[in-house]
Amino acid sequence: MAETNGTIPSAPADTLFSHSLISPDVVSALPEGYSMRPLQRNDFDTGFLDVLRVLTQVGDVTQQEFEQRFDQMKAGAGGYHVLVIMNGEGKIVGTGALIVERKFIHHLGLVGHIEDIAVAKDQQGKKLGLRIIQALDYVAEKVGCYKTILDCSEANEGFYVKCGFKRAGLEMAHYY
Ligand code: ACO
Repeated sequence: MAETNGTIPSAPADTLFSHSLISPDVVSALPEGYSMRPLQRNDFDTGFLDVLRVLTQVGDVTQQEFEQRFDQMKAGAGGYHVLVIMNGEGKIVGTGALIVERKFIHHLGLVGHIEDIAVAKDQQGKKLGLRIIQALDYVAEKVGCYKTILDCSEANEGFYVKCGFKRAGLEMAHYY
């Protein structure tokens, strides 16, 4: 059940969102030595951008650009929840994001959007993707979202079905 009901639990300045939103049950289900935490401002060179490169092209992002984007997300009224999984050597090997959209409809309802799920190639198949989704579901429920939605390719539908999602609707896009 929602515990924060749209209010934002506080987090240190260098941490994107509160550690209290990381599910203890999901953390205890990670492989031995692995950990999970919110994205930090000093994650420029801990493997975060490399993990995202398994998903799509990232480009040459500088440290200054990374930190500027982090600050913009942090200023976004508790909307951005980017979390990471680290292996035993402190390298980021998986990431995922929950963006919380604040609505007027559904009595000021909150909708979670799952975005940018990526697990390093050599780490796939260890249930890290599943743990990322479970952890984002936990955040969504705790902050008070009434549903969470995502877009994915046909090739990934089976993964999301295993994570408990079902097909609903159709994606439309304009590219600029
Ligand atoms: N199709 C069907 N089933 C799948 C797929 C797939 N593409 N990928 C994983 N599964 C199954 C696994 O076999 C496993 O099933 P099991 O419980 O019966 O053993 C279950 O889903 C959980 O798999 P995980 O081990 O948690 O998956 P993994 O850690 O490899 O992560 C992910 C899956 C995130 C799709 C990974 O392969 C990846 O990073 N791919 C490249 C980037 C990408 O496509 N990301 C998703 C984009 S969509 C979005 O971001 C909203």
